[in-house]
Amino acid sequence: MNKKIMVIAGSPRKGGNSDLLCDELIRGADESGNITEKIYLNDLHILPCQACYGCRSTGKCVQKDDMANLLAKMIAADVIVLATPVYFYSMSGQMKTMIDRTLPCYTAIKNKDFYLIATAAAGAESMERAIESLRGFTDCLPGSRVRGVIYGAGVYLKGEVLKTTAMQEAFNAGKSI
Ligand SMILES: Cc1cc2nc3c(=O)[nH]c(=O)nc-3n(C[C@H](O)[C@H](O)[C@H](O)COP(=O)(O)O)c2cc1C
Repeated sequence: MNKKIMVIAGSPRKGGNSDLLCDELIRGADESGNITEKIYLNDLHILPCQACYGCRSTGKCVQKDDMANLLAKMIAADVIVLATPVYFYSMSGQMKTMIDRTLPCYTAIKNKDFYLIATAAAGAESMERAIESLRGFTDCLPGSRVRGVIYGAGVYLKGEVLKTTAMQEAFNAGKSI
């Protein structure tokens, strides 16, 4: 109720399977009176981390792009949803690039509830490495809790997730926030 929910959509495919699951989670969360915002990583200009460690002394990245704004939103959120398609058993490049760029102040992303969403053509077992990598990120954040994981398994073409139970799971997850 009345929580700020930041949904980070990591697929370049708008209206694709993970995006549809994001929308269904948002629909549930809105019904429960939360404040939701979805951002498409692919619409943002986020450069890869250069490992220059300039941020160690300043707490800021030397690269001037959209990441500072996104970091501020993540820090301000109560709940963060990370949604990614499975690409070669891992998360999308857009998602990994964003995660690496939290380095300047990832410890400030604290006490958040997380929901993880993944979609893949193969079965749920093919998604574990991607989910584990997302958990690797949340494990680095103080006080983070993964409240739910939604597996959109066996979906390849845009919209195929609509006929799966993952849609209801996404709605229920949002509604329960
Ligand atoms: C570059 C690329 C790599 C992919 N690798 C995998 C994979 O390793 N395993 C799998 O099951 N599906 C793989 N897929 C299929 C996508 O995971 C699948 O189409 C998924 O539904 C896409 O989600 P989206 O609609 O949210 O983008 C791959 C697709 C692309 C474009």
